[in-house]
Order: sequence, then C-alpha cells, then structure tokens
Amino acid sequence: MATLIDGKQISADIKNEVKEKVAAYKAEGKEISLAVIQVGNNPASTVYVGNKKKACEYVGIKSVAYELPEETTEEELLDLIKELNGRCDINGILVQLPLPKHIDEDKVIETIDPIKDVDGFHPMNVGALSIGRRGFISCTPYGIMKLLERTNIDVNGKHCVIIGRSNIVGKPMGMLLLKANGTVTTVHSRTKDIKELTKQADILVVAIGKPKFVDETYVKDGAVIIDVGINRDENNKLCGDVDFDRVVDKASAITPVPGGVGPMTIAMLMNNCVEAFEFQNC
Ligand code: GUN
Repeated sequence: MATLIDGKQISADIKNEVKEKVAAYKAEGKEISLAVIQVGNNPASTVYVGNKKKACEYVGIKSVAYELPEETTEEELLDLIKELNGRCDINGILVQLPLPKHIDEDKVIETIDPIKDVDGFHPMNVGALSIGRRGFISCTPYGIMKLLERTNIDVNGKHCVIIGRSNIVGKPMGMLLLKANGTVTTVHSRTKDIKELTKQADILVVAIGKPKFVDETYVKDGAVIIDVGINRDENNKLCGDVDFDRVVDKASAITPVPGGVGPMTIAMLMNNCVEAFEFQNC
C-alpha cells in the first residue's frame, strides 16, 4: 500500500510556522493584514472565504472582510481595489473567484497591485514564476510543492505529468515542477491519448475536476499521485479526481481526499501574506 501524503499534518505545521512568525512581528508592534473581497453570495465562495478568515484568525493575521452585493459594478470593485492598493495597513488583497458575470475577472486581477497579490494570479507574478524570478506563487501548486518537499519526494529528473491546464493549478504546477528539475508533460481535454502519457509518470498531478477519473490503468507501478480534485461521488461522499481505492496499491505515495492537497491551499495563502508583508516596506 502507498504512503499517505498527510496534507492535514503538513498544512497544520506550516500554519504553526506562520503563526510563530506573525507573533514575532506582533511583538515588534507590527500587524499583518489581508483584505478578503467577496462579491455576491455564491455558497461555495462563502465557505472558502469563511475558511480563509478562520485561518487568518488562527495564525494572527488581521482579515478585513468586504462582502459586496451581487449588483456591485466593475467600477466600484476596481475603485475598492485601488483604494486598498494604496493603503499601508493592507498587505494582501484577495478577490474570491468566480465573480458575477458582469465583472471582468482579468481586469480585476490586473488591478490588484502585484506586491499585494497573495493569490499569485496577476500576470506579473505568473510571468515571474515562468522565468524563475521572485513573486507570489498560486497557493494550490505551491502547496503541492511543499507536500512533495516535506514527504522527501525528489522531483529532480522525474517525469511529472499534469492532467489539467488551468491558470490556477495546471499551468503554475508545470512551472514549479520544471523549476525543481522535473521533466514536465501537461495533458488536457484535447490530448490524443491521455493514458499513454500518464502511464509514464513518476509523479502524476491530477487537476481535471472529474470524480474518480484516474484509475489504476492510468498509473505506473510506484508512481506518486497528487489528487487536486474535490468532488462528490454517487453517494454524495467527498472524493477526488483519482479513484483512491483502485490506485492506492499501485502507487508509492498518494494524497487522500479530504486531507491531502485541500488544506495546503489556505496554509500557503497564510504564508503568502507574511511574504507580502516582508516584501513591502510600507
Ligand atoms: N476560487 C477558487 N479558488 C480560489 C483561490 O485560490 N483564490 C481565489 N481568489 N478565488 C478562488
């Protein structure tokens, strides 16, 4: 049976490390703060935003919530972001996605000052990552790199296959694995033969959003499996994009769902808020 990669424990460790740093700054009279903006009341977003606020409270970061009505105009949202960009008492700005249809997400992301973009979505930060420069890294792929590091899984020279090419996970994941000297292949909905490629993976990252899409026929013996999916199965039970029961005996290590990649995203967001504070000299 595969080793379980314990995201619950690793994310708790990272949050505790962040908490210590925040406490040390507090002792010097310095406070770290994150503005969290939600437009409308998408129920999933409300849960995510609530979890982010709870994590802030736990580590000692001040969260400043902006709960805006669905009818908020793009201009009003952009004006708020510009105001927050200029405020020294705000270190990070997070706009929960998705936004209502009448608001252009790209425009919103591009309005956030890159040095406060703790999500790592601004083109400047994405570009920095792609050329190995310093910048904010998207929290989920950043969290996956921490899972690998802290489970002593070496990426150097490994064939890493990523299923999915989203801006938030698939693409930055490829950049990070490449930076760690992996050989990276990204497969997606238009790939001719996904299985042919995933069967070659030493490390397989699955971020496709389809419940139990990957079974043992996609997996090489001894592969490391990272499951980014959070779905409900036919019995309404949480499951990943990987059919855990069918893959667990073939893999050497695997992330469970829940308790794998999921909790890492918020831990890395907390980490990014401290990085933002340390980078800004405001
Ligand atoms: N919506 C789903 N995931 C995320 C995330 O990581 N950040 C933001 N801002 N919105 C999201």
